[in-house]
Amino acid sequence: MGVVDMALDVESIRSQFPILQRTLPNGKKLVYFDNAATSQKPLAVIDAMSDFYKNYHANAHRANHTLADESTAALEGARDRISKFFGTSESQMIYTGSATEAMNLVAYGWARYNLSEGDVVVTTEMEHHANIVPWQELSKERGIELRYVPVDTEKFTLDYDAMEIAVEGASLVCVGHVSNVLGVRNDIERVIRMARSQGARIAIDSAQGAPHEKIKFDDLGADFLSVAAHKMAGPTGIGCLLVSEEALSEMGPFLTGGSIVKRVSLEDTLFQEGYAMFETGTPRMAEAIGWRVAVDWLEENVDFEEAHRHVQSIASWMASRMREIPGITVFGFPEREEAIGVVSFLHDTIQAQDLGYLLDAGGFAVRTGHHCAQPLMEAMGVGSTNRASVWIYNTMEEAEAFVSHLEAIVSRFG
Ligand code: ALA
Repeated sequence: MGVVDMALDVESIRSQFPILQRTLPNGKKLVYFDNAATSQKPLAVIDAMSDFYKNYHANAHRANHTLADESTAALEGARDRISKFFGTSESQMIYTGSATEAMNLVAYGWARYNLSEGDVVVTTEMEHHANIVPWQELSKERGIELRYVPVDTEKFTLDYDAMEIAVEGASLVCVGHVSNVLGVRNDIERVIRMARSQGARIAIDSAQGAPHEKIKFDDLGADFLSVAAHKMAGPTGIGCLLVSEEALSEMGPFLTGGSIVKRVSLEDTLFQEGYAMFETGTPRMAEAIGWRVAVDWLEENVDFEEAHRHVQSIASWMASRMREIPGITVFGFPEREEAIGVVSFLHDTIQAQDLGYLLDAGGFAVRTGHHCAQPLMEAMGVGSTNRASVWIYNTMEEAEAFVSHLEAIVSRFG
């Protein structure tokens, strides 16, 4: 099965997601615009996980009975398949519980072993809390200097001039690929060049990037990259950290216990090497199997460049129409060609929470809140936004219905 180079067949894609047929208790048909929080799952993924539990569920890497062998083969086969999908090899991929856990693994499995008082970690004001809080905690523990690159709140991009200065002398630079609040696609290639010129290691939080752009990890030149399966048609409860060979050789254990050890005595422990040092406890077998099917499904059904044009054109149209609605502010520039399908907005007088309920009453699922990015919200001068986020199965008809419903809400309650 190869990469399919074709226009996105949205109707065929939609037909494979059972939940998109859902009618809400109020009789409205679901229009799902909360994809940056989590994407829906195609039937193939749901079936694969159910098949595992029905037919070959057993704990992997622990026994040599038939079911255990099948389960182990599925878990490791999935690692091979998923790592190749992300442009690397299975030895460079560590399964984690989430993208957040992957960023914690950078902090506690790499930085804690390599950085000490006075070392500099650079992150940005645009980040999800998953790429801020672990650094603050480590900074308290280790006396690491933490520098934040500001957001240019006119252009709604990172301030790259400030970044040039911030990375001077840095040991680690950690940047989000795509902002979950604004849909801004950061120039990670430029950030990687800047960080490399300082000899710093580079971590990319791609929780919001990987669902929209084909990751080629080995070509990218980053040391770490985090991914969440559930935002790209896979199950919840699993993600990964992709790690360069060099950075992996500098890592030490984070969460400890069984599976990751070669030998334990009452005095000491000898750990496994490579990715096997980091996956303690019962593996995420059903989740890995589901994720593998999700990447197969994406490869068969989705050309990423075509998907980007589809998602961007819907979000761009929504943003430009929403700007015309009295009292509505759209943050950032979803209209930009490289923007990733996110429209964050507020109304002057209708509270975000109320607007969320009123949209839900029409069948439209959007997220409301600070989106786990409070420093960015502060820079934007707001406490929360409503956020519509678009993915491959959304249609222009849904966008039109959304804008009409929003107009109706504003004319009635605004
Ligand atoms: N981080 C996810 C979001 O942006 C949950 O909604």
